Amino acid sequence: MKGIGGCDLHELAARFGTPLYLYDAERIERNCRALQGAFNAHYPATDSFYAVKANGNPHLLRLIAARGLGADCAAPLEVTLAERAGIPRENIMYTGNYESRDDLAAAARCGAINLDDITALDKLPAGFDGILSFRVNPGEGGGSHPGIITGGPGAKFGIPLESVPAAYRLAADRGFTRFGIHLMAGSNNRDPLFFARMTAIICHNAAGIFRPLGILPEYLDIGGGFGIPYTDDETPLDLDATAKAVAGTLALCAAQHGVTPPRLRIEPGRYIVGDAGYLLTRVTGIKEGIHRFVGLDAGMNTLLRPALYGARHRVTVVGKDTPAGVATLCGRICENTDIFATDIPFPAVTEGDIVLFHDAGAYCAAMAFPYNGRLRPAEVLCENGVARLIARAEDKTDFLGRYAV
Ligand SMILES: Cc1ncc(COP(=O)(O)O)c(C=O)c1O
Repeated sequence: MKGIGGCDLHELAARFGTPLYLYDAERIERNCRALQGAFNAHYPATDSFYAVKANGNPHLLRLIAARGLGADCAAPLEVTLAERAGIPRENIMYTGNYESRDDLAAAARCGAINLDDITALDKLPAGFDGILSFRVNPGEGGGSHPGIITGGPGAKFGIPLESVPAAYRLAADRGFTRFGIHLMAGSNNRDPLFFARMTAIICHNAAGIFRPLGILPEYLDIGGGFGIPYTDDETPLDLDATAKAVAGTLALCAAQHGVTPPRLRIEPGRYIVGDAGYLLTRVTGIKEGIHRFVGLDAGMNTLLRPALYGARHRVTVVGKDTPAGVATLCGRICENTDIFATDIPFPAVTEGDIVLFHDAGAYCAAMAFPYNGRLRPAEVLCENGVARLIARAEDKTDFLGRYAV
């Protein structure tokens, strides 16, 4: 790999230091276009809300908002990030869970709220005049790792299907008149039929819920979950087939229930930024032990997904393409889960070599934390050969300053 967004990787490492997160602006824009293009072609009544949790860097949010996406926020400070990116209220949505009163006070600044439970209704500030929705647990879910399946019997999210009508009845009794309905059953799905199935579940249930209330929902939200390949043998999600299957399901469902097809909301996170991000890191130590360990200046604190879910990332060494045996890649954190990959084919490396993790745009920088006093890295946006710092590295003062109480 020569560079990212026209920027040379050696120069980036020398100028900004490592570890370093890098983003390809053009790739993010292309991903937005691809997703919106597919849904616009098959179901023009679709509104896309980028899931801020995937990567909340406001510089990226601004880029994504400029392509017409709104923001889906999971916590009060994510609402602030969306507001600072200039996203208008009607394009900001809140989907939390186990919401506190403070959470919902911030959520009320958004145009729509997807409540995780009926009990949250009592905590919503009086005067909220946006769209109210409940998150449904559809009874099943899907995702590339058990830890990212968010629907079904093992999920902590949403309201069981059988309890959802009572939630809307209560909300209607309290005087709410503007409703949506929401589900998000898992992340990193690459099968179009998964999205069609989730759409069918929410659409048929919505018909049964809203008909007795004499109200039409303003949106059906099928969440995010649009997956990307993380290894060379994984096939990409067929976006066109996905949008077509979702649109066909909605048309059929609406016809069966004699209602006009609803507006659709989607909340893509990973699909927008996942393959546009990279983690640049340097080799710090090599140990010929039980395995051939290659230690890096990034660890599980920098890129948590492998330790958290057993996730894998493509890894390359800058300027060295040919494998020379296998290596186990790890960081410098004092945890034995601080391992990125075990016994993978790897080039011969020496201290200082630059190692690049691919597909590190989603749930990577966003999950970084300063364990062991290993600080969060800088982030750089690359476009047309220009590299722009969009988050400075955490420094000693940030880290130590918290304790100066
Ligand atoms: C409510 C909600 N919406 C959207 C997303 C984004 O999912 P993805 O990044 O898989 O598109 C998530 C991720 O967990 C989520 O919890």
